[in-house]
Amino acid sequence: MSDEHRPNPLREGLSTKAVPQPCAIVIFGATGDLTHRKLVPALYNIAADGELPPAVAVIGFARRPKTDEEFRAEMEEATRKFSRQTVRDEIWDGFAKSLFYHQSEFGDEAGYKTLADRLEKLDQESGTRGNRLFYFAASPDKFETIINNLKSAGLNKTSEGAWARVILEKPFGSDLASARHLNRVVQASFTEDQTYRIDHFLGKETAQNILVLRFANAIFEPLWNTRYIDHVQITAAETLGVENRAGYYETAGALRDMVQNHLLQLLCLVGMEAPTDLSANSIRDEKVKVVRSLRRFEEDEVGSRVVRAQYTAGAIAGKPVVAYREEQGVDPKSQTETYVALRLLVDNWRWSDVPIYVRVGKRLPKSGTEISVHFKKAPQVLFNRGSQVIEQNVLVIRIQPDEGISLRMQAKVPGTSFRTEPVKMDFHYGTSFGKASPEAYERLLLDAMAGDATLFARRDEVEQAWAFIDTIEEAWAAKEDAPKLCTYPAGSWGPEEADELLARDGRSWRRL
Ligand code: BG6
Repeated sequence: MSDEHRPNPLREGLSTKAVPQPCAIVIFGATGDLTHRKLVPALYNIAADGELPPAVAVIGFARRPKTDEEFRAEMEEATRKFSRQTVRDEIWDGFAKSLFYHQSEFGDEAGYKTLADRLEKLDQESGTRGNRLFYFAASPDKFETIINNLKSAGLNKTSEGAWARVILEKPFGSDLASARHLNRVVQASFTEDQTYRIDHFLGKETAQNILVLRFANAIFEPLWNTRYIDHVQITAAETLGVENRAGYYETAGALRDMVQNHLLQLLCLVGMEAPTDLSANSIRDEKVKVVRSLRRFEEDEVGSRVVRAQYTAGAIAGKPVVAYREEQGVDPKSQTETYVALRLLVDNWRWSDVPIYVRVGKRLPKSGTEISVHFKKAPQVLFNRGSQVIEQNVLVIRIQPDEGISLRMQAKVPGTSFRTEPVKMDFHYGTSFGKASPEAYERLLLDAMAGDATLFARRDEVEQAWAFIDTIEEAWAAKEDAPKLCTYPAGSWGPEEADELLARDGRSWRRL
């Protein structure tokens, strides 16, 4: 029986949440950005909230020579800068004692043998019980080498009663073929149950709340289908540009960077059927059906259904910013898209003929991720006849910032006539619950320590998503008649062509 289906009789009736267990967490790529900005600050916050298991050792594995002390000092500086909560000295001091540094090239087999020895020693000294979590925060082209070396050092196996798991950062491949290859490589050493593919959007509180909204409230589900929903919009807007990630972004572009993973995951949560239970596989079974039902584009359709664009020079919040092609490390003739808008259809009974418009872009005027569900119009036979139109009801799920949900509806304007206007019912996480949500990485690290893979992508989800994305990438890469790369000034809401994509259907993008 797999980890996730094994009931624990002692916990039955007590809690439905799996418990994080003592373990050693080895971070490959310990000197990189992700470790500094996200991973170690997340672990510190878990410790500060008192949720870290009693014995945890964090071992940074990287190339540069460094002592444990130097690593601790570096991590302290990063955590003070990036932590969600202000760092408290007394908590940091205790936490820092569990940080260690292991110097080795990723390709050096001997480095893994010494790692194995070190982990065994830590088990004795710190009580990590032989449990190991290997976090792949290194560049993806190193994944295969690291996996193979872990196996050669016997680190994919554990002692009786212990576990070993791998967490793999995105991008998981760059197309279907490479994702399949990586899956084969991983699974030659670790089983699917041991494999945790990160999609940090799934760790966001508001993304998880989509399931609660849909399946813990009786009022939405009966309306959640083609009879009542006119269309859905999913937007992920960022004011940031490519920052210092040109090397990666030039090979990815917005479609691979954001749509293949994060936005398709959100679409799955909005579109899926109710799972039979909350186990990882039940939820993922339903999600993967949505991706499988996405209507594939014919090559000659891509141009009219998908808009790709790149930002030119402009201004964000009044400050001038350079064009993408002038960013450091970017090819001056780059064809990489920093914006994509798509018109998608999900071919199943629930969603038949309901367009799902997805857009994502860098250097837009505002940062925000949201899903808006636009319901069909009420017949305009009673109110506002012949005058102003009655606007549709819109349910907005704000993933970030200002996390919450709002419902737009019509209300009577006070006065002697029966004129109506749209008003908003609003739920804000901050004010309703009075506490800040944990960062996505906090939740995901805790889940991995607990052996709960619900919020991680399964092999078939990732491969199906790539199969869909590949049809678009292939059309874009065509030598002849490839759909054009449009442009938009930084600080604008994207290219005109994206507005036309909706205007052709008589619709427009919601203003964030
Ligand atoms: C990452 C992308 O996965 O998600 C980035 O690689 C993007 O390009 C980021 O900026 C957005 O995540 P968040 O949590 O900041 O919205």
